Amino acid sequence: MARDTFYTGIDLGTSKISTLVAKVGGEGDLQVLGIGISQAEGIEKGMVTDVPAATEAIRASVDEACRYIGRSPSPAHIAISGAHITCRNVQVSMPASGQGAKPVTREDVRGLVRAAYAETDPDMENLHIITREFIVDGLRGVRNPVGLDAEEVCLEATVVAGNSIAIQNTHKAVEKAGMVVDSLVISALASADSVLTEDEKELGVVLLDIGAGTTDVAVFKTGKLIHICTIPVGGHQVSKDLSIALGVPYEYAEELKLRWGCVLPEMVDASEEVLLPTMHGTGHKSFKRVDLCSPIYERIVETLHLVVMRLRQAGMERLPAAGVVLTGGTATMAGMVDLAKRAFHCPVRIGMPRELEGLPEEMHSPAFGASVGILLWSVRHHGEVRSYAARRSEALAGYKTVFTRLSSSTNARLKTAGHKFSAEFKKIYA
Ligand SMILES: Nc1ncnc2c1ncn2[C@@H]1O[C@H](COP(=O)(O)OP(=O)(O)OP(=O)(O)O)[C@@H](O)[C@H]1O
Ligand SMILES: [Mg+2]
Repeated sequence: MARDTFYTGIDLGTSKISTLVAKVGGEGDLQVLGIGISQAEGIEKGMVTDVPAATEAIRASVDEACRYIGRSPSPAHIAISGAHITCRNVQVSMPASGQGAKPVTREDVRGLVRAAYAETDPDMENLHIITREFIVDGLRGVRNPVGLDAEEVCLEATVVAGNSIAIQNTHKAVEKAGMVVDSLVISALASADSVLTEDEKELGVVLLDIGAGTTDVAVFKTGKLIHICTIPVGGHQVSKDLSIALGVPYEYAEELKLRWGCVLPEMVDASEEVLLPTMHGTGHKSFKRVDLCSPIYERIVETLHLVVMRLRQAGMERLPAAGVVLTGGTATMAGMVDLAKRAFHCPVRIGMPRELEGLPEEMHSPAFGASVGILLWSVRHHGEVRSYAARRSEALAGYKTVFTRLSSSTNARLKTAGHKFSAEFKKIYA
């Protein structure tokens, strides 16, 4: 009988580090066994900027997840982000033998992939190579050329790379936390595994993961990634803008945003008042909720326009047919879908992570799209990948949400999406 296999996925976010440990049994059944969420430290705009601080935060998250599994964690797949991540399209070809057509072998294909992978910019490290299509004797759109008779075969692929130093620092922080790194995965690719449907990827879709420090953009067509980029703006900037606009500390601005934030000022009752504690907690003042929404609207509109610009620069004048899927914590803000529809002129929906056995209901939120995604990625891309993948849809369809044992601190963090409400706010809204 096939043995249980263990998988670990770590999502290195700007606001939180989440670790999920899961087991896949002999029948291909996946169960989440351990969850650890720690407040991120030493990570700015998706990048490790302080190795010792990030190490401690990763250690806290991993220790929490491993508390109940009674074994050391398996090598981990790590979801990473940052503006240093780039992608480019490459074309490599297998030279014609000059001896007429012969069947293309697996080794020929491996050689093409190796050649595409070898195309590296200085200072960059390749993280993913995604084969888009093969061109067989000039005929485009071939998904798998193995066995076809051909004289010349070309491979068109998307190569995703990150800055070598940024990648080295991430490795260092994770390894110092006692983990073995299996692979680093671009966060948007991980999110895509958990929030997009196969139909959307086939038809063409833009995934936007709007987190705390970054907005990750990934475009899929005919089932493949065709473009990826990261804009270093997210929910932190929204709260910073609010803090400046309202003249309140950042922590207050964050709380205001979580409680009353809305990206469309017209959705808010113009007379609605919000109470705000004074700086030293000695009283409170009131202001109109609509004044809170205007700076949020400005920042999110600007971010969405940056996305449109980046897509245009990548040659996408028109968005793909399945439209846009929004995920990440900032996507949960009221009015996001309507505002995104206006910005992109296409269908927009919120992308929720898949439900898995052992995953608490609180994690069924866009904030955990990449966290669940990196776990699914680790399963799909290692060990039992094939047997599991074959039964994946069937198995996932039957999953029920059941509660795993969570520590009180992880539970509290899940409930408040990583944010504590301050005593000052609690006094007013008790
Ligand atoms: N209900 C909400 N309304 C508004 N903002 C929210 C809400 N819930 C979460 N957020 C914001 O979402 C952000 C956190 O999102 P997420 O957990 O996806 O980020 P992250 O993965 O840690 O960071 P990143 O992916 O950018 O590196 C925070 O800025 C938080 O304020
Ligand atoms: Mg994230």
